Amino acid sequence: MNATRVLVIGGAGYIGSHVVKALLDKKCAVTVYDNLSTGQRCNLFAAARFIEGDILDIAKLNAIMAEGFDAVVHLAAKKAVGESMVNPQFYAQNNLNGSINIFNAMVDNGVKNVVFSSTAAVYGMPQYLPLDESHPLNPMSFYGYTKAEIERVMTWFARLKDFNFVALRYFNAVGYAADGSIRGKEKNPQNLLPIVMEVLSGKRPKMQVFGNDYDTPDGTCLRDYVHVEDLARAHVAAIEKLLSEPKSHIINLSTGKGTSVLDIINAAERVSGKKVNYEFAPRRAGDPATVIASNDLAREVLGWTPQYTDIDEIVKTTWNLEEK
Ligand code: WQD
Repeated sequence: MNATRVLVIGGAGYIGSHVVKALLDKKCAVTVYDNLSTGQRCNLFAAARFIEGDILDIAKLNAIMAEGFDAVVHLAAKKAVGESMVNPQFYAQNNLNGSINIFNAMVDNGVKNVVFSSTAAVYGMPQYLPLDESHPLNPMSFYGYTKAEIERVMTWFARLKDFNFVALRYFNAVGYAADGSIRGKEKNPQNLLPIVMEVLSGKRPKMQVFGNDYDTPDGTCLRDYVHVEDLARAHVAAIEKLLSEPKSHIINLSTGKGTSVLDIINAAERVSGKKVNYEFAPRRAGDPATVIASNDLAREVLGWTPQYTDIDEIVKTTWNLEEK
């Protein structure tokens, strides 16, 4: 992919910075566009050009898009499920309007290919398992709705314009670059593994396990945890696919394997050699017992398989970053 010109919007964020690293490893010419609202300067790579900008700034988006890119990776979004239910206007503005601004700027400037960060949250409560890409979309949060809606907008743009996309539906993203090159941990984390890490390092006194009476082997919820470096590699494969064959796809990125909340806690205890201070609490509203997805399409279309399969190894890449 020598010198392939890629614009990574949201490239200073958690997943975006790992995508930038993977693209640089493939010798792409990378430009990062990020407003640093949740992205962090310490996640920027010297080898990638950085432009501080917002996806609501249409003039700036057009100016950058006019330079011409082989592909865009769009990861800029607000992603807190709870917040999206309290402040949907903010999510409508950032996620919906911001994405439309990007796609309009692409079409108006002849940029044809985009890889989009979508999510398992588009599916809602599973009607069957493993989830595949034909499963009905019933998002249970406004956040999930925005991602499903953006997929629909892209589907129409692909029908009407010279526009191709790959939407990657991430399951539970975890871990950090194993080589320690990405040091900016998410601030105010809301997901399980970062919370476990904060308990281990003493930043939180204790945590709650939401529900131990689910119909699962140990009574706690099963999720499909996929390592962020595996996610990042899929973006590279998606760009290669778009450049070789101008066709659009919607693809799950998952391992196909379920890991329970207690499995994560036990792995964190093994890796750190410390005890996690937790208590069982009532179920959290809206949590499905099990979320596991098929990755057959990712294998078939992108030739992608997750490399990280051992939960201890995954947890280790996160623990390595924690100040202990
Ligand atoms: C995982 C498991 C909790 C915290 C969310 C979004 C989804 C996607 C990924 C963005 C669940 C349990 C958690 C805690 C706990 N995000 N848990 N105690 O809910 O599977 O998915 O993040 O696209 O859209 O919904 O992830 O990390 O919140 O929870 O027991 O303090 O850990 O109940 O079973 P979730 P999570």
